[in-house]
Amino acid sequence: MSETPDARTALTDSPFLRACRREPVPHTPVWFMRQAGRSLPEYRKLREGTTMLDSCMRPDLVTEITLQPVRRHKVDAAIFFSDIVVPLKAIGVDLDIKPGVGPVVERPFRSREDLARLRPLEPDDVKYVTEAIGMLTTELGDTPLIGFAGAPFTLASYLVEGGPSRNHEHTKALMYGDPQLWADLLDRLADLTGAFLRVQIEAGASAVQLFDSWAGALAPADYRETVLPASKKVLETVAPYGVPRIHFGVGTGELLGLMGEAGADVVGADWRVPLDEAARRIGPGRAVQGNLDPAVLFAPREAVETQTRKVLDAAQDLPGHIFNLGHGVLPDTDAEALTRLVAYVHEQTAR
Ligand code: CP3
Repeated sequence: MSETPDARTALTDSPFLRACRREPVPHTPVWFMRQAGRSLPEYRKLREGTTMLDSCMRPDLVTEITLQPVRRHKVDAAIFFSDIVVPLKAIGVDLDIKPGVGPVVERPFRSREDLARLRPLEPDDVKYVTEAIGMLTTELGDTPLIGFAGAPFTLASYLVEGGPSRNHEHTKALMYGDPQLWADLLDRLADLTGAFLRVQIEAGASAVQLFDSWAGALAPADYRETVLPASKKVLETVAPYGVPRIHFGVGTGELLGLMGEAGADVVGADWRVPLDEAARRIGPGRAVQGNLDPAVLFAPREAVETQTRKVLDAAQDLPGHIFNLGHGVLPDTDAEALTRLVAYVHEQTAR
């Protein structure tokens, strides 16, 4: 289906891809970070008895889980079901994803010798990704598929801390204490992430998102000097494909200008900065994505609509707005509230 010229045009002209290019749209496109996941009963059922990492390596499961929120919520894009640590696992890093915790690395990265544990990623290491994306693009037709990867800083934080961290103290100790090793680690992770995104684009992803979830822990000067070059390298690696590149982090109000400089086509903002102000900080020529607080979905319907209206009002003069939450869907979110939210945004922005 997706191979015919008509289907390809419909995909290229989809509201999501048009908004990424800052072209006029029939309605503001919507998708949600973590739209596939525990908020959906059909997801919980399908995942029963299979670990998170095993699920990511099964193309049949990945395809079905990726499609679930598209069918249910009528979102304007699918996000590939995987995890930011999958490429690390694929090159042999000993890690696991612990339910309710997140990625845990058996032996944290602390010394120069540890760099040898990060070999280059070959497409054959992630055949299951290529296979799943092939199946998905056929099923999705003119609905775009977003590929993704973790940005070097966020991956480095998991590797150095050994797991999720509030303060990133070991990561920062390495960053300040051994700047050369830190630069080498981030550069190596930039190559890994770039290779993982290339695989997804070559398999058929229509856009990619670079998740720098924990970048907000950094002061702008440190971000500029030690993190931005690595994220920029990733974004440049995939620039020649011409697919939109989205760059997102949490708590990045003070970093939005630098994230704009890193070179993405779309910059995502969390809920702490209104989108008109976020766009001003990001700078000209970029679309913006966001930014309803995911916790708002726990409020009554009218309150959700009021808060959504505020996001839409802040974005109304911006060419190129993709509606999303300011971070991922929280696991206990009512799935029906998400479906209603998609319909509400579509209806409020119909042109
Ligand atoms: O719908 C989607 O967005 C696609 C799937 C997706 C997952 N992880 C699935 C997942 C995406 C895009 C990610 C990215 C990811 N993973 C990030 C960046 C985005 C963000 O939230 O900031 C990060 C930091 C991770 C690391 C990670 N993996 C965490 C913190 C967790 C949660 C641990 C928990 O159980 O609360 C995971 C596991 C994970 N990744 C789950 C899902 C659906 C939950 C596992 C499960 O359902 O058993």
